Amino acid sequence: MITKNMEKALNGQINKEFYSAYLYLAMSAYCNKNAMPGCEHWFRTQHDEEVIHMTKMFDYLMQHGGEVHLLQIDEPPVDFGSILQAFEASLEHEQFITKSINELLDVAVAEKDHATQVFLQWFITEQVEEEANVKEIVDRLKLVGDNGAALMMIDDKLSLRAAATVAADEG
Ligand code: FEO
Repeated sequence: MITKNMEKALNGQINKEFYSAYLYLAMSAYCNKNAMPGCEHWFRTQHDEEVIHMTKMFDYLMQHGGEVHLLQIDEPPVDFGSILQAFEASLEHEQFITKSINELLDVAVAEKDHATQVFLQWFITEQVEEEANVKEIVDRLKLVGDNGAALMMIDDKLSLRAAATVAADEG
């Protein structure tokens, strides 16, 4: 049985994962508007991954006798300034999520909740990957600057991102 403190913290994280999904959906729409279909696809896939993260936490909370409390989701921006700025905002957001997951683990340790500590290990590993993936894209976009041909090549590469699936996310 999960403690009330742990339940509150997990419900807060479910909300952050929902917001992440919302944010990436907004970023995909921004890329669509700016004729970058590969970036649009990349963010859309990132949205799908966030839904998987949210569902994982939602299921875990119910499975361990916690009460799900779905909080209000904030509205994401519409305009991100530029494609580079959208990916920079994504990196900043993932760093925020990493900090939040670490704080969640601190709660699990304080509550002596060993099952949740084990459960959160998956998210800690996932965050390392999420940050690294976005950082690589930010670095490449910075390198090419305003070079249209190079931007199109990056966009083509991002269009190849594989679909998010629960199985792939667990791999
Ligand atoms: Fe669910 Fe991108 O962290």
